[in-house]
Amino acid sequence: MLGWVYVMSPADYAAWLAGGSSSQSMQQAGETIFNKLGCASCHLSDGTGRGPSLVGIYGKEEALKSGDKRLVDEAFIRQAIVNPNSVALPKYPAIMPTFQGQINEEQVLQLVAYVKSLAPEERKTDGK
Ligand code: HEC
Repeated sequence: MLGWVYVMSPADYAAWLAGGSSSQSMQQAGETIFNKLGCASCHLSDGTGRGPSLVGIYGKEEALKSGDKRLVDEAFIRQAIVNPNSVALPKYPAIMPTFQGQINEEQVLQLVAYVKSLAPEERKTDGK
Protein backbone atom coordinates (compact mmCIF):
# COMPACT_ATOMS: atom_id res chain seq x y z
CA MET A 1 0.00 0.00 0.00
CA LEU A 2 1.26 3.45 -0.87
CA GLY A 3 0.67 6.56 1.12
CA TRP A 4 1.99 10.03 1.77
CA VAL A 5 3.47 11.08 5.02
CA TYR A 6 4.12 14.76 5.60
CA VAL A 7 6.77 15.44 8.13
CA MET A 8 6.59 18.83 9.79
CA SER A 9 8.56 20.28 12.63
CA PRO A 10 6.44 20.97 15.73
CA ALA A 11 6.73 24.73 15.14
CA ASP A 12 5.57 24.41 11.53
CA TYR A 13 2.75 22.20 12.61
CA ALA A 14 1.61 24.69 15.22
CA ALA A 15 1.72 27.48 12.65
CA TRP A 16 -0.21 25.33 10.21
CA LEU A 17 -2.86 24.56 12.81
CA ALA A 18 -3.20 28.23 13.63
CA GLY A 19 -3.75 28.95 9.94
CA GLY A 20 -0.46 30.79 9.62
CA SER A 21 -1.05 33.88 7.51
CA SER A 22 2.08 33.26 5.45
CA SER A 23 0.51 30.29 3.72
CA GLN A 24 -2.78 32.05 3.01
CA SER A 25 -3.50 34.85 0.61
CA MET A 26 -5.06 38.07 1.91
CA GLN A 27 -8.32 37.13 0.24
CA GLN A 28 -8.46 33.67 1.72
CA ALA A 29 -7.76 35.05 5.15
CA GLY A 30 -10.46 37.65 4.55
CA GLU A 31 -12.95 35.02 3.56
CA THR A 32 -12.28 33.11 6.76
CA ILE A 33 -12.91 36.23 8.86
CA PHE A 34 -15.96 37.08 6.77
CA ASN A 35 -17.53 33.77 7.72
CA LYS A 36 -16.30 33.81 11.29
CA LEU A 37 -17.64 37.26 12.13
CA GLY A 38 -21.00 36.55 10.56
CA CYS A 39 -20.59 39.04 7.72
CA ALA A 40 -21.70 36.24 5.43
CA SER A 41 -25.00 35.84 7.28
CA CYS A 42 -26.14 39.35 6.31
CA HIS A 43 -24.26 39.76 3.05
CA LEU A 44 -25.59 36.83 1.05
CA SER A 45 -24.19 36.81 -2.47
CA ASP A 46 -27.65 36.69 -4.05
CA GLY A 47 -28.84 39.82 -2.25
CA THR A 48 -31.55 38.13 -0.17
CA GLY A 49 -29.82 38.76 3.15
CA ARG A 50 -30.38 41.60 5.60
CA GLY A 51 -27.49 43.48 4.05
CA PRO A 52 -26.68 44.15 0.40
CA SER A 53 -24.81 41.59 -1.67
CA LEU A 54 -21.17 42.60 -1.89
CA VAL A 55 -20.59 40.80 -5.17
CA GLY A 56 -19.26 43.17 -7.76
CA ILE A 57 -19.52 46.34 -5.66
CA TYR A 58 -15.85 47.17 -6.01
CA GLY A 59 -15.32 49.92 -8.54
CA LYS A 60 -18.99 50.88 -8.72
CA GLU A 61 -20.56 54.22 -7.93
CA GLU A 62 -22.98 53.93 -5.09
CA ALA A 63 -25.77 56.32 -4.19
CA LEU A 64 -25.94 56.90 -0.45
CA LYS A 65 -28.94 57.78 1.64
CA SER A 66 -27.56 61.27 1.99
CA GLY A 67 -27.85 61.74 -1.76
CA ASP A 68 -24.08 61.70 -2.20
CA LYS A 69 -22.41 59.38 -4.63
CA ARG A 70 -19.30 57.50 -3.64
CA LEU A 71 -16.98 55.29 -5.59
CA VAL A 72 -16.61 51.92 -3.92
CA ASP A 73 -12.85 51.71 -3.52
CA GLU A 74 -10.68 50.30 -0.77
CA ALA A 75 -11.17 53.33 1.43
CA PHE A 76 -14.93 53.05 1.10
CA ILE A 77 -15.00 49.34 1.95
CA ARG A 78 -12.78 49.99 4.92
CA GLN A 79 -15.05 52.78 6.12
CA ALA A 80 -18.08 50.52 5.74
CA ILE A 81 -16.47 47.95 8.03
CA VAL A 82 -15.01 50.27 10.63
CA ASN A 83 -17.83 52.80 10.72
CA PRO A 84 -20.87 51.30 8.96
CA ASN A 85 -23.31 54.05 9.84
CA SER A 86 -21.26 56.53 7.88
CA VAL A 87 -22.15 54.79 4.61
CA ALA A 88 -25.91 54.43 4.97
CA LEU A 89 -27.54 53.05 1.85
CA PRO A 90 -31.05 54.03 0.74
CA LYS A 91 -32.76 50.66 0.87
CA TYR A 92 -31.22 49.29 4.04
CA PRO A 93 -31.71 49.94 7.74
CA ALA A 94 -28.55 50.84 9.64
CA ILE A 95 -28.25 47.46 11.33
CA MET A 96 -24.67 46.61 10.50
CA PRO A 97 -22.65 46.49 13.72
CA THR A 98 -19.27 48.18 13.81
CA PHE A 99 -16.32 45.85 13.90
CA GLN A 100 -13.92 48.45 15.14
CA GLY A 101 -11.95 47.07 18.06
CA GLN A 102 -12.92 43.48 17.25
CA ILE A 103 -10.55 43.05 14.36
CA ASN A 104 -7.05 44.32 13.96
CA GLU A 105 -5.62 46.36 11.12
CA GLU A 106 -4.36 43.33 9.25
CA GLN A 107 -7.76 41.70 9.41
CA VAL A 108 -9.45 44.83 8.11
CA LEU A 109 -7.08 44.76 5.13
CA GLN A 110 -7.84 41.08 4.58
CA LEU A 111 -11.57 41.75 4.62
CA VAL A 112 -11.11 44.59 2.16
CA ALA A 113 -9.10 42.27 -0.11
CA TYR A 114 -11.83 39.68 0.09
CA VAL A 115 -14.68 42.09 -0.69
CA LYS A 116 -12.64 43.46 -3.59
CA SER A 117 -12.24 39.96 -4.98
CA LEU A 118 -15.98 39.34 -5.11
CA ALA A 119 -16.39 40.06 -8.79
CA PRO A 120 -19.33 38.18 -10.32
CA GLU A 121 -17.18 36.24 -12.81
CA GLU A 122 -14.76 35.13 -10.13
CA ARG A 123 -17.63 33.85 -8.09
CA LYS A 124 -18.91 31.61 -10.84
CA THR A 125 -15.59 29.98 -11.57
CA ASP A 126 -14.72 29.95 -7.88
CA GLY A 127 -11.38 31.47 -8.73
CA LYS A 128 -8.99 32.56 -6.06
C1 HEC B 1 -26.48 42.48 10.90
C2 HEC B 1 -26.21 42.38 9.48
C3 HEC B 1 -24.81 42.74 8.98
C4 HEC B 1 -23.60 42.20 9.37
C5 HEC B 1 -23.33 41.14 10.43
C6 HEC B 1 -22.60 42.82 8.53
N1 HEC B 1 -23.17 43.73 7.69
FE1 HEC B 1 -22.20 44.84 6.28
N2 HEC B 1 -23.93 45.87 5.91
C7 HEC B 1 -25.18 45.58 6.45
C8 HEC B 1 -26.13 46.58 5.98
C9 HEC B 1 -27.62 46.63 6.35
C10 HEC B 1 -25.41 47.47 5.14
C11 HEC B 1 -25.94 48.72 4.43
C12 HEC B 1 -25.35 49.91 5.17
C13 HEC B 1 -26.36 50.82 5.77
O1 HEC B 1 -27.27 51.25 5.09
O2 HEC B 1 -26.16 51.17 6.97
C14 HEC B 1 -24.02 46.98 5.10
C15 HEC B 1 -23.01 47.55 4.33
C16 HEC B 1 -21.76 46.99 4.13
C17 HEC B 1 -20.80 47.41 3.13
C18 HEC B 1 -21.00 48.51 2.12
C19 HEC B 1 -21.80 47.90 0.99
C20 HEC B 1 -22.08 48.79 -0.16
O3 HEC B 1 -22.75 48.34 -1.10
O4 HEC B 1 -21.66 49.94 -0.14
C21 HEC B 1 -19.70 46.60 3.26
C22 HEC B 1 -18.43 46.65 2.43
C23 HEC B 1 -19.98 45.69 4.35
N3 HEC B 1 -21.24 45.93 4.85
C24 HEC B 1 -19.11 44.73 4.80
C25 HEC B 1 -19.33 43.92 5.92
C26 HEC B 1 -18.32 43.08 6.53
C27 HEC B 1 -16.91 42.91 6.02
C28 HEC B 1 -18.91 42.51 7.62
C29 HEC B 1 -18.25 41.60 8.67
C30 HEC B 1 -17.04 42.12 9.29
C31 HEC B 1 -20.30 42.95 7.66
N4 HEC B 1 -20.51 43.82 6.63
C32 HEC B 1 -21.24 42.53 8.59
C33 HEC B 1 -25.47 44.53 7.29
C34 HEC B 1 -24.53 43.72 7.93
